[in-house]
Amino acid sequence: MYCLKKITDDLTWVGGNDRRLAMFEGVYSVPDGVSYNSYIMMDEKTVLFDTVDRAVSKVFFENLTEVLQDRPLDYLVVHHMEPDHSFTLEEVVLRYPNIKIVCNAKILTMIKQFFEFDIDSRVIVVKEGDVLSTGKHQLTFFMAPMVHWPEVMLTYDTTDGILFSADAFGCFGALNGAIFADEVDFELNYMKEARRYYGNIIGKYGPQVQAMLKKIAPLEIRLLCPLHGFVWRKDIEKYMEKYERWSSYTPEEEGVVIAYASIYGNTENAAEILASRLWDRGIKTVMFDVSVAPASDIITAAFCYSHLVFASATYNNGIFVSMEALVFDIVAHNLQNRTVAVIENGSWAPNSGKLIRAELEKCKNMNILENKITIKSSMKKSQLAEIEAMVDAIANTMKK
Ligand code: FEO
Repeated sequence: MYCLKKITDDLTWVGGNDRRLAMFEGVYSVPDGVSYNSYIMMDEKTVLFDTVDRAVSKVFFENLTEVLQDRPLDYLVVHHMEPDHSFTLEEVVLRYPNIKIVCNAKILTMIKQFFEFDIDSRVIVVKEGDVLSTGKHQLTFFMAPMVHWPEVMLTYDTTDGILFSADAFGCFGALNGAIFADEVDFELNYMKEARRYYGNIIGKYGPQVQAMLKKIAPLEIRLLCPLHGFVWRKDIEKYMEKYERWSSYTPEEEGVVIAYASIYGNTENAAEILASRLWDRGIKTVMFDVSVAPASDIITAAFCYSHLVFASATYNNGIFVSMEALVFDIVAHNLQNRTVAVIENGSWAPNSGKLIRAELEKCKNMNILENKITIKSSMKKSQLAEIEAMVDAIANTMKK
């Protein structure tokens, strides 16, 4: 049975929600599910904007059939070829063989990589600034390479001021019956998921997101339609400001993320003492045990806060495994502009701190504090002064 959401007189959401997915992209936990958004515009010509993941294909086709009734599907605009949005593309073509597929040259190449159906006879290749008239609506295409893949493009409907923004401005979390961000308490219940989505999925591509923001700045956007999460019709500028901040790697808040990897609790003890002393000084602090916390949660916090402390046991003469994975992940996500401190532990040759520092030096504009603390097996009373010195160094690098 269809389950669709009307957005405007001409535009309907025909996507679906998946609450059973254990790991999005095989990496990111989605405890509150995820939506795969697809939109259909009913004009003199009918236009489908993207398709969906296979997980929601049944309801997607039911939605599509319900909206179209006995009308043909004239165009499919493809913005992004990642399979969470393109898996059902071939089936759309099989069901609607007279459809024209509107995409750019890179998307065309990728369609040929993912599928073997005859695309050349039904493709309309567009480039930056091209316009497609569907009757009342005029669709303009903008390229947005590396937001999140190289082929990504956006569509702006000049008639109703609708931006189809592909992965940009998306959010984890199923829609739970709503469609507009202003219907739910987005700040309370979804902003963290939007940040987690941004940091983990698009976080690496800050400069490309900045280029996209510059490109869409002159547009009068009345509706923002991403491929995941809610449609925006209010507070669009406020949400764009978040993107401005995240993509420029500017911390949202002054505060400390302590990520620790502890085998028998002694490194954790040092992290706890540090957190306690930071709060004593009124410094907001969050803690993660990297062996149990999803890396995506820690990366989200790292995108939010100004200061990061890594406390790690030494293991096999290197960084403890879960911490090593986290640090590599942070470097891979291109995080910048943070102040960092390191605590290392080791019973005979502590050197995890040196190795963490060497990894993080690959990131741009990281202020790595000299106050490294080295623990030999367990924290000693005599080292409390070192903790205080680290708290001082952190406090001294905060504005407030
Ligand atoms: Fe939601 Fe990059 O795909």
